[in-house]
Amino acid sequence: MNTTDKTSDATRAGVEFDDPYGIIEDELRYQDGFDPDAEIEPDPDYAATLAPDPATQRRERVGPTGRPMPRFPVPRPPVEHGPARIIAMCNQKGGVGKTTSTINLGAALAEYGQKVLLVDFDPQGALSVGLGVNPMELDRTVYNLLMHRGVNVEDVLLKTVTPGMDLLPSNIDLSAAEVQLVTEVARESALARTLKPVMHDYDFIIIDCQPSLGLLTVNALTAAHSVIVPLECEFFALRGVALLTETIEKVRERLNPELELDGILATMYDARTVHGREVLARVVQAFGPQVFHTVIGRTVRFPETTVAGEPITSYASASVGAAAYRQLAREVLVRCHAG
Ligand SMILES: Nc1ncnc2c1ncn2[C@@H]1O[C@H](COP(=O)(O)OP(=O)(O)O)[C@@H](O)[C@H]1O
Ligand SMILES: [Mg+2]
Repeated sequence: MNTTDKTSDATRAGVEFDDPYGIIEDELRYQDGFDPDAEIEPDPDYAATLAPDPATQRRERVGPTGRPMPRFPVPRPPVEHGPARIIAMCNQKGGVGKTTSTINLGAALAEYGQKVLLVDFDPQGALSVGLGVNPMELDRTVYNLLMHRGVNVEDVLLKTVTPGMDLLPSNIDLSAAEVQLVTEVARESALARTLKPVMHDYDFIIIDCQPSLGLLTVNALTAAHSVIVPLECEFFALRGVALLTETIEKVRERLNPELELDGILATMYDARTVHGREVLARVVQAFGPQVFHTVIGRTVRFPETTVAGEPITSYASASVGAAAYRQLAREVLVRCHAG
């Protein structure tokens, strides 16, 4: 496969990515003939063996990923805060649940007493909008933090409706940073430098990445301790994931040796359809234990929360969606402390 093929493949699948300075120049490697970017042919029998339907889950005491569901204990609120674990919420595909997961994982962690900072690192500003902020009315954003000396985190920081959770908002200005950073020294570590002064004020910093593998996303991966990759349980779920894991690998080799993959998060899952279970089965086949036990179901409650401008944990506190992100928060806490 040559580079031209990759680009046209990705374009056809509606996946956008770029490679401004050669992070992704190697060929993709496929092991054992398994092509994670292949389309998923429906196969009901196969789906039933790996991603069980809800009745089987109850009978056999397994989770939606087909593995025994561990207990994730309710954590005690920490007595002291920091240093923060920085998580990049990353997938170069749009509409997979990055922003939704950033808001709601953050809010659920904050409910458990963790101090949380969310970073809007997408010039679209969807994270800011989802938290009730109008990005166009902002004087100072993450862009100013990255590009202007003398602007401090406190000058940009906003409180959210969730106690213990703060926001660094963004708007379209950030798209200029992508261009302007290219000529800077240590252009990949601008965000890491920016976050350093507040590392000790938070337990978690979650970066909502833009849907591309450009310089902004490389900055997020360079600043992060770990990555969460949300995958929508839909037809092209695994398309482009090989390219993403390759990029993570390269950032680890060249820029950030500490970078880990926290896990793959299956989102917008519909357990009632064979197609949904088929896709989840393939995700588990491809990534095994790296897939979070917690799977986020599809519900209109999430689009509603965007309009409301607040997390589901407060907008619909007793909903299944809120419970799912609380469980994810507990699973993330277990994974972090085990690692
Ligand atoms: N679990 C879910 N069920 C139903 N809709 C969802 C779910 N998660 C996200 N959405 C909706 O899907 C759209 C894309 O989600 P979003 O989090 O913005 O993705 P991304 O940030 O990856 O582009 C949004 O309209 C969001 O409200
Ligand atoms: Mg988004």
